[in-house]
Amino acid sequence: MNRLRYLMCPPDHYQVNYVINPWMEGNVQRSSQQRAIDQWQKLQAILSQYVQVERLTPAQGWPDMVFTANAGLIVNQTVVLSQFYHPERQGEQPYCRDWFAAQGYQVLELPQGIAFEGAGDALLDRGQGWLWSGYGFRSMLESHPYLAKWLSLEVLSLHLIDKRFYHLDTCFCPLSEGYLLYYPPAFDTYSNHLIERRIPPEKRIPVSEADAIHFACNAVEIDRVILANSMSYPLQERLQKLGFTVITTDLSEFLKAGGAAKCLTLRLDEPLSGMPALAG
Ligand code: ARG
Repeated sequence: MNRLRYLMCPPDHYQVNYVINPWMEGNVQRSSQQRAIDQWQKLQAILSQYVQVERLTPAQGWPDMVFTANAGLIVNQTVVLSQFYHPERQGEQPYCRDWFAAQGYQVLELPQGIAFEGAGDALLDRGQGWLWSGYGFRSMLESHPYLAKWLSLEVLSLHLIDKRFYHLDTCFCPLSEGYLLYYPPAFDTYSNHLIERRIPPEKRIPVSEADAIHFACNAVEIDRVILANSMSYPLQERLQKLGFTVITTDLSEFLKAGGAAKCLTLRLDEPLSGMPALAG
């Protein structure tokens, strides 16, 4: 069987040493290296039961490089390389560019000044194949027409309005068969209407604030198995009734930097046959 491939970056140089999101506030130099390694290895071991995990070599001085979801956005053999909003992460770009190029991806780069943070802010809908793209804190709305044009995808722009949920993948997780796990208050009214028009009520799974702040939406789904930091029992039950299996694994050391399971991984095979581009 052909196994899916995911990219992870070991936490050798991971720590919280600056503040670029509210989760990092009060956590500078407060993460434990050993606990981070243990939690990361456990996540990697669980993931390896289902997929092949590739490794990106961590670079000294770029502590957030563990969050490989932000390396870029992959569709087929093309990657739109991230262009980080904050200088604190911009040094990760050359390492990601080199890795993707060495793997044979076509690497596309946005014009200078247009921030875009990869699969952290751009998620394919698993049912219909369009691309949900977040903006408001990190990725800029100006990046969306490039994604539509370069990847020949319909792009649906969602406005993030709660700074705790600064990346789309912190509050929004498309699942198999068009299901959607999400935290509606993280989006403005217009975006909520857009979501409601595209996803029928029986496919929407809104989560509570308590689940959202424990990064329940920052989940990785592989073939109906959902991996996340934590989920309340009612939420787990709801997902189980829909045929999903939930696995939780403690990622508290990474929550201190504002990330969890989804942020720590990047799916490398995102096959898509392609649809007519809708924006230029
Ligand atoms: N400290 C990192 C940042 O603020 C966390 C990134 C989390 N990644 C994600 N895909 N949500 O950029």
